[in-house]
Amino acid sequence: MSDFNLPGTIDRVDGRQKVTGSATYAAEYRPAGMVYGVLVGSRIAKGTIKAYDVKAAENAPGVLAVIHHLNRPNIPGYAAAEGDTGPGGLKLFASDKIYFDGQPVALVIADTCERAVHAASLVKVAYQKEAPQTDLLKIKDKAQAPKRGGAPYKRGEAGAWQKAPVTVQGEFLLPHEIHHPMEMGSIIAVWEGADKLTVYDKTQGVKSAQRTYAQLFGVPADNVNVISPFVGGGFGMAIRTWPYQVAAILGARKVNRPVKLMLDRSQMFTMTGYRPFTWQKIAIGASRDGLLQGITHEAVGASATYEEFTEGVVRMSQIMYACPNVDTLYKLAHLDVSVPTWMRGPGEATGAFALESALDELSYKLNIDPVELRIRNHADKDPENGLPYSSKFLKECYALGTEKIGWYKRNRTSKSMQEDGMLVGYGMSSGIFGAYRSPASARALLRADGTLLIQSAASDIGPGTGTAMVKIAADILGLPYDKIKFELGDSNLPPAPTQGGSGTTSAVGAAVHDVCTAVKEKLTELIKATHDTNFHPGDQPPAFKNGSIQTGNTVISFGELLRRNNLQEIDLTRNSKAGEERQKYSFYSFSVHFTKLHVHPDTGVVKIKEIVTVADAGKIISEKTAASQMIGGVIGGIGMALTEEAIFDHRYGRYVNSNFADYHVPVNADVPHIDVLFVNKPDPYINPMGAKGMGEISLIGYAASVTNAIYHATGKRIRQLPVTLDKIAL
Ligand code: MOS
Repeated sequence: MSDFNLPGTIDRVDGRQKVTGSATYAAEYRPAGMVYGVLVGSRIAKGTIKAYDVKAAENAPGVLAVIHHLNRPNIPGYAAAEGDTGPGGLKLFASDKIYFDGQPVALVIADTCERAVHAASLVKVAYQKEAPQTDLLKIKDKAQAPKRGGAPYKRGEAGAWQKAPVTVQGEFLLPHEIHHPMEMGSIIAVWEGADKLTVYDKTQGVKSAQRTYAQLFGVPADNVNVISPFVGGGFGMAIRTWPYQVAAILGARKVNRPVKLMLDRSQMFTMTGYRPFTWQKIAIGASRDGLLQGITHEAVGASATYEEFTEGVVRMSQIMYACPNVDTLYKLAHLDVSVPTWMRGPGEATGAFALESALDELSYKLNIDPVELRIRNHADKDPENGLPYSSKFLKECYALGTEKIGWYKRNRTSKSMQEDGMLVGYGMSSGIFGAYRSPASARALLRADGTLLIQSAASDIGPGTGTAMVKIAADILGLPYDKIKFELGDSNLPPAPTQGGSGTTSAVGAAVHDVCTAVKEKLTELIKATHDTNFHPGDQPPAFKNGSIQTGNTVISFGELLRRNNLQEIDLTRNSKAGEERQKYSFYSFSVHFTKLHVHPDTGVVKIKEIVTVADAGKIISEKTAASQMIGGVIGGIGMALTEEAIFDHRYGRYVNSNFADYHVPVNADVPHIDVLFVNKPDPYINPMGAKGMGEISLIGYAASVTNAIYHATGKRIRQLPVTLDKIAL
């Protein structure tokens, strides 16, 4: 692991608040008069509601309201959206129609949480059942092209792999995976007046949530305040808003009290999206010296019947390697399930499993080391559009990783290595994800007491956004970290994008960079205009250090400089966005993962022993939080490889393991020491800091390094995740 005590590393600015419990999460606010909402979920996966019996619930102690489709107050924003979905997803309590098991069918509001839970258990719903279809493999052949996005892709010749002298092909399966952040979906909705709403919300995007709620309830966006300073993990589930949030806001309006609604763990399986079950078929052809001649990649992802979700499952096959002939096809199977959504490394994480497994298989067929095979097919320019990369240090990643894990010291033959009676496997894989820069804005307020407040409506779901922003500001202005405060997670702050797609450090960081640079320029102007500071035109530019400006022999603190100029503060706001460089270059981050593991020769138990993960994410702003972010993504990858799977009983269209006893996320004992290495070279074009993103690439590709290592250890090629014992069956 990186040495966390290096000079220049910064502790997480909100770490103390988080570990001591003083950080306030959405469900922890206590507005006066708050009451509690609990959603009742459908017990069937497909059909219609015939009748409700809510008498017992309504008469239960403390109950204020029971809302369902027969008595639901109007939601003005639904009228403009045709069909079953509107802003916020599936229209809440819109009709008698059931689309999936667990679909909200009623909201119970009571004066205490316990009373609301109890009353919800008394709501009786009679259904007309229909047979649900939740099995993608049963309807795979009827899969349809998505309405938006995911168009078929071809460069060169389709199916060219078949003509190559060496070929591999295989089908791959990935199950439904659930995000499962520690903090479950939570909201407290407070109507401050007929058209003024305050929402304490778990969200990755306060501005987009604000827009959605304003649209839904027909109030001006400025009258909606979404507050979300702390988020206990998200992984994509809180990028968009969901019907449970609509329910709380609607309920609060109905009972005219603040309503708190928090999902329970089992509701997290059906009410906030997931990574969809996906079938893939990939075929690769290469010359005998390992040059790729054709890739054909086909995928069918699960989606819902009422709303479509698409992701770039086949995209990595299009963009990762220098291959002249690539064709891909992506389709959706519309199932009686809730709609999926983005989950860390959306699309690429799924596709990388197929592509990076198939390449490993090809490396054995060719008898070329898998790292060497990838280097031979390294794309020197973007294979999709021929553009140069803004920066690409993927070869450096291979070099750093192979060195660290001792890659070339292993015996490359599969089933050749043993240690302590265990079969030993080494595996590797790569990842890629676009590096973006959305428009963002930030305000800086430098006060006469020498403290700096920076504000932006960003979110921090865990990567350490606040910490990175403080680091950027400190480096520009030469201010100690503890003099800087970064405020985020409030829709009243200057606009920033939703935290997603590994884009926050780039977008918000650029705004913070720009506004701090403007403050620095203002301070420089002031010192030039201040006559008693020995500053002469033609002197070296002043140095900014330790909250002071140094010119010649004079050291003057920011505060003193403001006072001498009769200023209380410097208050500036800057909007920042990408320029035409986006048209001239292709922007991507890259990762390479190495895994060493043991497989028990009799039982097939897999124990990961060592992980080295390397990233080209441009300039690393804050080494410690960045390494921590990478470690988190890799742990998600361990779950994907070995443990995580939401399992349907297709007879009922219902999950059978919708709890943490049966849905296994990796625990400490599953996670070995993880070395994180960064190339740490700035990208010259992406933003003024040179920082690309790393949230997605930390996970993308990781699972294949495990299955590739299992192949190396055992000679078994496993193409279905997660790799449970039954699949190894030695
Ligand atoms: Mo992520 S899926 O960009 O939260």
